[in-house]
Amino acid sequence: MKLSETTAQNSFRYGWLLKRLFPYIKPFMGRVILGLLVAIPVGALDGVVAFALKPYMDYVVGQKDWVFQAFGHTYSVSCSTMALAIPFAVVLFAGIQGTLRYLNTYLTEWTSQKITNTIKIALFDKLVFMDTSFFDENSSGVVLTRYFTDPEKASDGIVSYLRNFVTSLFGALSLIAVMLYSSWKLAVIGVVVLCAAFIPVALIRKRVKATSNKNMVLGGGITTNFNETYIGNRVIKAYCLQDRQRNIFKTKIWQTFDNNMSLVKRTGWMSPIMYLIASFGIALVLAYGTYLITNGSMTAGSFASFVTSLLLLYKPVKTLGNTLTGLQTVFVALGRVFELFDLYPQITDKKDAKSLKGLNDSIEFNNVTFGYNNENMVLKNINLKILKNETVAIVGNSGGGKSTLVNLIPRFYDIDNGSITIDGVNIKDFSINSLRNNISMVFQDNFLFSGTIRENIMMGNENATDEELNKAIEYAHLDEMIVDLPDGVDTVIGERGMSLSGGQRQRVAIARAIIKNSPIVILDEATSALDNKSEAVVQKALDNLIRNKTVFVIAHRLSTIKNATRIAVINEGELVELGSHEELMNIPNGQYKTLYEMQYRKQEQNQEQGVL
Ligand SMILES: Nc1ncnc2c1ncn2[C@@H]1O[C@H](COP(=O)(O)OP(=O)(O)O)[C@@H](O)[C@H]1O
Ligand SMILES: [Mg+2]
Repeated sequence: MKLSETTAQNSFRYGWLLKRLFPYIKPFMGRVILGLLVAIPVGALDGVVAFALKPYMDYVVGQKDWVFQAFGHTYSVSCSTMALAIPFAVVLFAGIQGTLRYLNTYLTEWTSQKITNTIKIALFDKLVFMDTSFFDENSSGVVLTRYFTDPEKASDGIVSYLRNFVTSLFGALSLIAVMLYSSWKLAVIGVVVLCAAFIPVALIRKRVKATSNKNMVLGGGITTNFNETYIGNRVIKAYCLQDRQRNIFKTKIWQTFDNNMSLVKRTGWMSPIMYLIASFGIALVLAYGTYLITNGSMTAGSFASFVTSLLLLYKPVKTLGNTLTGLQTVFVALGRVFELFDLYPQITDKKDAKSLKGLNDSIEFNNVTFGYNNENMVLKNINLKILKNETVAIVGNSGGGKSTLVNLIPRFYDIDNGSITIDGVNIKDFSINSLRNNISMVFQDNFLFSGTIRENIMMGNENATDEELNKAIEYAHLDEMIVDLPDGVDTVIGERGMSLSGGQRQRVAIARAIIKNSPIVILDEATSALDNKSEAVVQKALDNLIRNKTVFVIAHRLSTIKNATRIAVINEGELVELGSHEELMNIPNGQYKTLYEMQYRKQEQNQEQGVL
């Protein structure tokens, strides 16, 4: 399944997405709710400061005592007490607000990171079990964005936007309450104008989304370019491709720039326009307020409270607007995240899967037909029976389907027609792990992990004893090399084993296969990438690996092929000839004979002349 770089089907089903997200929020629900509860006073305390201005102006500045009645008594607070108490109260409230804000930030970070990590881990769990074809189809850049960046965007976003939403909403409500208390007429004017100022925000939402989608595609391309520059650095040097890589990078970076700038050009006018509309509102309020004060229907204190609230209101309302826009991107990211949760590997264990415990009799291909897509069949109607401890060499033209054939045995790909059986049981009936545990594979290019040589070998069998490890090292002809290393078998080899030579890497991979000690061995051009000298020693290691095993070997080396029990010739996806070297050489104009004469005779002559 090829992932889209930008879109997912369900990005606009908000309810459905929240329902899917809920299980990931649920374990942290207590703290999420606490965070939101704390967000309420953080917002609402904004209004308190504005509200404090009214008594300050009316009583302290106006030199009046505050007289009020409660519980049938009349109380009075002198203006000098108020002059002390009000500033003190303002500081106190700011202190409380600050403490709550801290608590709120802490809770938001805690919950959003917990949720993000839970989702990331769950996605990674899915990723490691995806089928080979999934990795064939999707580039590393897209996978990184979709499995790593999106969950961050989605769950970080949802918690912090939720918090901002609550804080801003209660901030706005408390300020509007103060405004209404001060003068409802002015409040109506203020709120209407402020809402008008935010109309442009609603208009540009679509553009923001289109731009962020475009940036994601570009970002994925940039990551892939980085990876390729890294992994392919030798090819880049060998073919002087530095300029190519730089140009790809430069082009994409500046495309991102153009993309962002076109957004700025189109949306940059918004803020000035909003301020302009807001300033009309303030002018209107000032004029009408002056009228109300001179007219005696409003005190100067109420007016001061009102104007302060109005000015303070701008921020929470703007945040509310941004939150609504931001939530869109969060939902788009959420849609992409939950699309990944709906991807399932096609190659899975059956319910009552059997465990494969070694090979007793034979491996059989029955009418196997397979294609990577529905149009082209790469293998056509293959019938082949390999007996226990037989070595079958698979030869044929490049692109004929040899690698494909052997990759079907560990179920890297599943076949649609025909069957592959081990001891008469369809391989689909075995659990995948038990099947793969019975197969050792050595390829042309074997992946070594960053870490030590020991770690890389022990991956073949984590329970192996030191004795088994040493034996594997000896059989893989690694002992001399390891003795020369500063930390011996615990020497750290670079990422992908780059500090080793090709032949050394190959022998580490063979040691890994030897320690695994599985009855079936698949060698796919295991010596093809090597020079003659390292090939000879790698071949010795391989001979140790395949002793008393059932072996499929794809090789170009004549002696390997001749020594095989039987040779299968695969041409254009069909098994055209099968038999021992002598048998196949006796077919007049046979394909093996032709291949042999074309490719292998030269090798044989070289060997006779002692070149090899
Ligand atoms: N992962 C893949 N996805 C799609 N097509 C593939 C894939 N791997 C190989 N092919 C195609 O299948 C055919 C057989 O390839 P392969 O089995 O690698 O041949 P051989 O090993 O004999 O050189 C080729 O045409 C190749 O392009
Ligand atoms: Mg191949």
